[in-house]
Amino acid sequence: MAELNPETTRNQAEKAIFAAQNLKDLERIFSYYLGKKGEVKKFFEKLKTVPAGQKKDWGMEANELKVFLEKEIAERKTVLEKSSSRRGKKKFFDPDRPGRKPEIGHLHPLTQAKREIISIFTSMGFNVALGPEIEDEWHNFDALNIPKDHPARDAWSTVWVKSSGEKQLLLRTHTSPMQARYLETHQPPLRIIVPGKVFRYEATDTSHEAQFYQLEGLMVDRSVSAANLKAVIGEFFKRFFGQDLRFRLRPDFFPFTEPSFEVAMTCLACLGKGCSVCKKTGWLEMAGAGMVHPNVFKACGLNPKEWKGWAFGFGWDRLAMMKYKIDNIRLFNSGDLRFLEQF
Ligand code: PHE
Repeated sequence: MAELNPETTRNQAEKAIFAAQNLKDLERIFSYYLGKKGEVKKFFEKLKTVPAGQKKDWGMEANELKVFLEKEIAERKTVLEKSSSRRGKKKFFDPDRPGRKPEIGHLHPLTQAKREIISIFTSMGFNVALGPEIEDEWHNFDALNIPKDHPARDAWSTVWVKSSGEKQLLLRTHTSPMQARYLETHQPPLRIIVPGKVFRYEATDTSHEAQFYQLEGLMVDRSVSAANLKAVIGEFFKRFFGQDLRFRLRPDFFPFTEPSFEVAMTCLACLGKGCSVCKKTGWLEMAGAGMVHPNVFKACGLNPKEWKGWAFGFGWDRLAMMKYKIDNIRLFNSGDLRFLEQF
């Protein structure tokens, strides 16, 4: 047996530990030096036979060797563990895989629809006008030929606002009050659209919200007819939905238009065949419309003999629902990212 020398053993072990390429190698080195019958054990065994005067030094050296090797092996182990887990991941790296897209926010589908609507109408010469959501009774009703105690007021379930001044306030039930506000302050000829939030004191379901959106349209000139109205709606549909779809005007009643129409279009969910979205009729009601009533002109200080006009009121959220094939109006206000991320 060669002479036991702590220095030599230490150097050998150091080289071996550094050369270990994986955890298995390292385990072998560990048991060779620090195992039950390992090299280091031999130093402690020899302690019994060394002369009494050298016992203390020999013992200290043996112990130092042991502590040193334990530390070296532990350090090498962490290095090897790290690189082996890195190698493990590398195996699954696919350089052709497209990078992960950073998540960025985008416009709400209603805002996207609004922007598109605005660009279509402005290209046809319409201006965009905005009005207050807290409206007064005069503009929401009286100026629109719906005097107090008129039964037609019941058609708009109203949220009234406690008001201290002489004006009775309410949350506007439609965007039509902007017809009156605009006519009071602008000289025709004029063409406007009014996108806006409206409120009804009503229960909600899949197609009704207590707070929803409308798109008002108003055109006033010396000779304007229902044919113009129909042409503008047709052009709008064509460009908004990207196809020449069928739509129809049927008689309806609104106090502020005469004659009045209901505008319906072919159901895009079934292309007119009849389905659950259109309740098997093939048609979807999209707007109320009509020729501006002479009393509205009068209330706004304009001469109804001089001016003619038409107006429409679309459900702007309905337009978005049809375009993006959304079957529940309540999703718009849900804030649900699974919904919003689709647009
Ligand atoms: N303001 C009406 C409503 O909310 C719709 C409408 C607008 C009808 C303009 C005719 C003209 O029901």
